[in-house]
Amino acid sequence: MKILVLTAHPDLSSSRINRAWYQALMQSPGVTARNLTAVGGPMMTFDRRDEQALLLAHDRIVFQFPFYWYSSPPVLKAWMDAVLSYGFAYGPGGDKLKGREFLCLVSTGGPESSYHAGGYNSFSMDEFLKPFQQTANLTGMTYLRPFVFHGLAQADPAVISASRSEMLAHITDAELDPKVRLSRLLREIEADPQKAAAVS
Ligand SMILES: Cc1cc2nc3c(=O)[nH]c(=O)nc-3n(C[C@H](O)[C@H](O)[C@H](O)COP(=O)(O)O)c2cc1C
Repeated sequence: MKILVLTAHPDLSSSRINRAWYQALMQSPGVTARNLTAVGGPMMTFDRRDEQALLLAHDRIVFQFPFYWYSSPPVLKAWMDAVLSYGFAYGPGGDKLKGREFLCLVSTGGPESSYHAGGYNSFSMDEFLKPFQQTANLTGMTYLRPFVFHGLAQADPAVISASRSEMLAHITDAELDPKVRLSRLLREIEADPQKAAAVS
């Protein structure tokens, strides 16, 4: 499985967690990590054909970003507007992303407990990430469970450091889609019915 991570941080040099993740991703086999701020430059301009060719060369697309005002930093939106075009990602003939997998890799300043009804952020991350989920739906990609690191404002360096391997395990998990895991289990049960007891 080939994984493309689009890293959307305005200044990785000042980052605590996304830079650590980006560096870990760069060293990870089968993963292409792309720093969108470096690629797009100050005007956030992208060569549509280059970016689309990269998407086509990968099976799983990951949007990596720090949570800014309940969404992504603007460079990711600039990339989406330029690259996910009519006839490629949607509309007639726009089925080029169909069948790929998609997920978000996000860090938040606020703690996990704030991302609930009654918490000071009121809503869950699943609710805040709905525009990304629907982008995946419209473009025919399978939306996978996001990896969210909460509470960066209070996190100590050891926790940030440990998050690198947890993040890598999550985004490279070939069975992140529960349907993929289920069909593997069913194949195993078919081959060896006694396994059914162990699985249930
Ligand atoms: C402009 C801006 C907006 C932010 N908005 C949010 C927010 O809506 N929710 C939140 O939990 N944290 C918010 N934060 C905190 C960032 O999510 C946090 O600092 C970031 O995840 C740190 O990542 P980094 O170490 O890679 O820079 C915001 C930070 C900035 C600078």
